[in-house]
Amino acid sequence: MTDLGLVASSCGGLDTRFTAELAAPAAALGWRLAITLTPTAAHWLASTGGLDGLAATTDLPVRSASRLPGQPRPHPDPRVFLFAPASANSVAKLALGVADNQALTLLGDVLGTPGITIVVAYQVLDTRAHHPAWPRHLDTLAEAGVRLHRLDPRRSWSAVLDRLPPPSRPVPEG
Ligand SMILES: Cc1cc2nc3c(=O)[nH]c(=O)nc-3n(C[C@H](O)[C@H](O)[C@H](O)COP(=O)(O)O)c2cc1C
Repeated sequence: MTDLGLVASSCGGLDTRFTAELAAPAAALGWRLAITLTPTAAHWLASTGGLDGLAATTDLPVRSASRLPGQPRPHPDPRVFLFAPASANSVAKLALGVADNQALTLLGDVLGTPGITIVVAYQVLDTRAHHPAWPRHLDTLAEAGVRLHRLDPRRSWSAVLDRLPPPSRPVPEG
């Protein structure tokens, strides 16, 4: 199986849609999921009882905290990443190189690396476009090779899975 680094932040619908429309369908497509949540996303799923259902989509631990020094790394090193849903907050931090949680540390470490595929599917209000830094954040990520996709709250999030390479085909090294 091919590993997929699946990262999520705290967007509306996380509790009802993330497992049903992203994690479970991705696993059904043949991806082995290495799931990392922002602390707020983990808090939301813990409070709604959604963590067990999410954990059932993978044999790997669902992460939201960094390991302690000396502890083994709990996840493999995927070559394909899907950051969905991505909040405006986390998109901005990723573009700026901020790594103040495990999810952003993971993505920041691989952003721009040759041979790594990153799809960022963000869900933001239309008014976000008025923030003067927002277009620059998207440009920064696009220039680093990120495949950007805006989630439409009226449609299934599963559509973004079409932006990933096929899980059965290994991504070339380099
Ligand atoms: C009910 C609710 C829904 C939210 N939905 C979104 C959303 O769809 N997109 C977004 O950018 N922020 C949304 N937010 C705001 C983020 O949760 C907030 O900016 C948070 O600090 C993001 O943290 P994170 O990126 O570390 O997960 C929502 C907040 C709440 C309370």
